[in-house]
Amino acid sequence: MANRVALAALVLAVASLTEVHAMLTGPRHIRLGDGRSRQLQRPFSSVATHSLRKDLLAQCKLNWRNASLDHFSRVPPAGDITTFPQRYFVCASHWQRETADGTPGPVFFYLGNEADVTLYLNNTGLMWESAADFGAMLVFAEHRYYGESVPYGKAVKKHMGYLSAEQAMADYAQLIMELKEQYQMPPSTAVIGFGGSYGGMLAAWMRLKYPHVLDGAIAASAPIWNFLGEVPAFDPGSFAKGVTYDASELAGSAPACVDNVKATWDLLASYGGDDAGRKFLAGGLRLCPGVPLKSAGDVEYLRAWLGAAWDYMAMGNFPYPSSYITNGHGLLPAFPVRAACEPLAGGDDWSDADLLDAMAAAVGVFYNHTGDLACFDPFAGTDPDSDHDANWWDYQWCAEMLMPFAKDGDSDMFWPEPFDLGASVEACQDNWGVTPRPLWATTQWGGRRIAAGSNIVFSNGLLDPWHGGGVLEDISDSMPAVIIPEGAHHLDLMFSHPDDPLSVIEVRKFQRESIRDWIQQAAQQSPSVDPTSGSSSLPAAGGRFRQWAAAAAAAGAGASATAGDGGMRDSHRQAHGSMQRPLRQHQQQRGQHEQQQQQQHAVAMAGGRVDGAEAAVAEGGAADGCGGGGGGCPVHRAWCAVRGWAAAAWRQVWAPQAEVEGDARARGRGRSEGHFSRRLG
Ligand SMILES: *[C@@H]1O[C@H](CO)[C@@H](O)[C@H](O)[C@H]1NC(C)=O
Ligand SMILES: *[C@@H]1O[C@H](CO)[C@@H](O)[C@H](O)[C@H]1NC(C)=O
Ligand SMILES: *[C@@H]1O[C@H](CO)[C@@H](O)[C@H](O)[C@H]1NC(C)=O
Repeated sequence: MANRVALAALVLAVASLTEVHAMLTGPRHIRLGDGRSRQLQRPFSSVATHSLRKDLLAQCKLNWRNASLDHFSRVPPAGDITTFPQRYFVCASHWQRETADGTPGPVFFYLGNEADVTLYLNNTGLMWESAADFGAMLVFAEHRYYGESVPYGKAVKKHMGYLSAEQAMADYAQLIMELKEQYQMPPSTAVIGFGGSYGGMLAAWMRLKYPHVLDGAIAASAPIWNFLGEVPAFDPGSFAKGVTYDASELAGSAPACVDNVKATWDLLASYGGDDAGRKFLAGGLRLCPGVPLKSAGDVEYLRAWLGAAWDYMAMGNFPYPSSYITNGHGLLPAFPVRAACEPLAGGDDWSDADLLDAMAAAVGVFYNHTGDLACFDPFAGTDPDSDHDANWWDYQWCAEMLMPFAKDGDSDMFWPEPFDLGASVEACQDNWGVTPRPLWATTQWGGRRIAAGSNIVFSNGLLDPWHGGGVLEDISDSMPAVIIPEGAHHLDLMFSHPDDPLSVIEVRKFQRESIRDWIQQAAQQSPSVDPTSGSSSLPAAGGRFRQWAAAAAAAGAGASATAGDGGMRDSHRQAHGSMQRPLRQHQQQRGQHEQQQQQQHAVAMAGGRVDGAEAAVAEGGAADGCGGGGGGCPVHRAWCAVRGWAAAAWRQVWAPQAEVEGDARARGRGRSEGHFSRRLG
């Protein structure tokens, strides 16, 4: 009887168990703290939906779409299955087609991560609480293979190859395009990505990869630098150190906590070697009768199970009771790590049994948060369905996102356990038939070299052990990092709460202000020149180029030998101007001639629209200097010729083609014959 109760409640610990299992038998990794959904399907007596003030789901429309199974190969996959049902929710009650300031109401798009998407819908308060202010449509899209968006139904495990971040992002990109069309949104409508944890990684990566689809991204607690091959290197011990920080006095926990946690591992080691000792451990840690603890290996498993509780409590170390880390299945107390450290606050007079009992009470804050566990069974397997779903993150970890983790028992409160790449690779091969590419994540996503991107706010809480793999310093003005010292795993995305620290309140304001900027930027992006409009003039050359050419002209004229040359490089000066040459008497005549030519050339290159264009205009030509017989330097003449050819080409070749294509589109079908399929070469 007792076992039945224990088993039921222990289902709660499924993610931890599978993780612990993986830690011992396979890849040493930690899941990102969500994604514990599908396996937690049993009814729980005290399911709390504390974070929900009202039924959010009821404010949304459930939608399904047929998503492409494989965006990157057009050869139909096995069994000719080419699509899978993808679930998403549209919550449009606050959406305004046009807002008060004339900009289109934006789309706030949650990039689902490794769980049932309703978890994010239920918990992403930042989106809900901003919707009315922004006139935003909320969209929550489910990540392929998770929740109910599963290809191949029950046979999915035989077809894991289409589970990847790139495929998921392509799903989201297509969905966004479809929504814009379906709701007839103006092209300048801003789409803002939101994500936390792996979802935050997706949001950041998607902004980098699809900047035309996502105008900006709120990437909360996104450990995008948690990989091998980072320069400078990622510290694989940072997660364990982070958990230890939460249990320290600095983070508000009982002073003796860290040392007592450490001392527990010594007890496990010293009692774990023989049957009598293991019996003592089992009793002290409140294990259920009959729980097998027969070998040193079993004790190692037990140790990992105990450690995992601390990992999860640290991720969920929120300042108020929350059910986020249990996927909605029951509340953890406010600051669960502090609560867990309470029983471990004791002193020097403790017996070994006292210490074990305190540790049992501590991990009970997580495993027994419902309060209905009579005893613990770390080995309680999960039902087959649960196992089936709980491992998808493990697959992704093996296939594309190998995140190294290590402990040393010195700078953290755990035990020495260096990252073992070889063992991880072996485990991935055993479990999935997949050989990890250790450097793929940094190759694919850019590691720390992502300064070319823009419009991403990276936020991290210092109570969140993932912050060590996150962006903690500004990458650029448009990719700032914000820190929430009292924040756990993406606290900023949660609903506002009276116990929120000031830092998270300010961070949310900053995020909203950034979003406003991005919306304005999107609104100001004008469509490019339409080459089919019949205009004979080319689109104006870029302003930067004209600036450069003007500077070259000025330099050639010797007008500003010391200033205003716009930072031209020496090689440019040598090529374009003679100002640095000593102007000796006998060279002066020739020098002046050269200068005139340089100036004409540069002004012409500048499209005649810069200061100093007088020269070209005075020459009697058109504004670009091409109309007056093409005087001046040979380069200028050649440029005029090319320009004339280009303009003719626009008129004769591409414009009609664009028209035909337009017609074909208007007829609702493409054509495969003629110049449409002509090879470029
Ligand atoms: C998806 O495709 C199936 C099979 O072609 C079709 O029956 C179904 O209506 C489609 N669903 C949607 C949402 O388009
Ligand atoms: C989200 O909330 C709804 C009730 O509004 C509930 O049915 C659903 O299970 C919740 N999802 C999760 C993952 O907690
Ligand atoms: C679980 O919590 C209940 C209520 O606090 C307590 O009576 C029980 O002993 C706890 N179980 C374990 C295994 O600690």
